Amino acid sequence: MELKTLPGTQLIVSELCLGTGSMGSTLPQDEAFRLLDLFVELGGNFLDTALVYANWLPIERSISEKTLGIWMRARKNRGKIVVATKGAHPELSTMDIPRMSPEEITGDVEASLSHLQVETIDLYYLHRDDPRRPVEEIMETLQTQVVAGKIRYAACSNWRADRLSAAQAYARDRGYDGFVADSMLWNAAVVNPEPVAEQTMVTMNAYLHRFHTETGMAAVPYSSQAGGLFQKMASGALDRARAAESRIYPLDLNERRFARIQNLAAEMDLSITQVVLGYLLSQPFVTVPVIGSRTPAQLRDSVSAAGVRLPHGTAGADVLG
Ligand SMILES: NC(=O)c1ccc[n+]([C@@H]2O[C@H](COP(=O)([O-])OP(=O)(O)OC[C@H]3O[C@@H](n4cnc5c(N)ncnc54)[C@H](OP(=O)(O)O)[C@@H]3O)[C@@H](O)[C@H]2O)c1
Repeated sequence: MELKTLPGTQLIVSELCLGTGSMGSTLPQDEAFRLLDLFVELGGNFLDTALVYANWLPIERSISEKTLGIWMRARKNRGKIVVATKGAHPELSTMDIPRMSPEEITGDVEASLSHLQVETIDLYYLHRDDPRRPVEEIMETLQTQVVAGKIRYAACSNWRADRLSAAQAYARDRGYDGFVADSMLWNAAVVNPEPVAEQTMVTMNAYLHRFHTETGMAAVPYSSQAGGLFQKMASGALDRARAAESRIYPLDLNERRFARIQNLAAEMDLSITQVVLGYLLSQPFVTVPVIGSRTPAQLRDSVSAAGVRLPHGTAGADVLG
């Protein structure tokens, strides 16, 4: 995998980022280590975790961060890994109560440092936004963490374009780096933004796309393979009854999308995975898709998309529409 610099930073990351949400929980530690080792062997260095992973299960809290911490210590590779984690997520039992006060953000950073067993976090995302809280206060809190060396760079996840713009304007005026990356739900599927918003998440839309195009800020799309929707359509492994119930990925619209993806794959001699991830890799700004691999075979397949670029004119934001 090629490496790229995240614009406005000294972070040099692999073209794909490995999502670790299930590591240490549904993916037991030994299997997680195998995937992490394989990712590194394939040229990967960029890992995505969060304080809240996988607290939805009745197990030890923050098991994903802790698993990464144990792995980096065991492999003695901290210096070679770019670790991204996220904090300021609401408690899962009270998703309507934001946790974005300076004390909550600062406390979450400390907890993540300890779980990851690191001195500094390379990329620290706010996992959610609280639009009622002034961006000025939020950016000052993050800047304090940068100055203290607790985090190298700040980023945001699930922020709307207007809030992102306001935060960046404030940071720019003060001479701060501000947010250097933004992570949103984005993939090649037709996505219904309403159920995504109900889960307090933000999907890529025209406003955000324009924001990234105009500013060049890196996008780090999550759910980048829509849970393997198109690969499963191709292999016949899709549970159609279950997929038909999805409010996020309407099945009828995505069946039409699949036909376009299949045609593109045939025309360009690419696999379905390569078109799905290639679509995100071919945008007019830097993107680093987060891949949610569950098995070594899935990881190898997803990594085969590194370097794929759909030709200009076929890779625009609306090419698959
Ligand atoms: N910032 C945020 O708010 C946020 C939100 C969600 C996720 N994330 C991050 O993104 C990561 C991944 O999220 P996600 O699980 O939603 O991503 P995803 O990549 O869309 O879905 C992962 C699933 O897709 C299938 N898959 C993956 N690679 C495949 C391949 N090559 N061929 C066929 N199927 C494949 C597997 O399904 P099966 O298991 O059914 O085989 C896998 O479990 C998380 O671990 C986390 O780090 C961030």
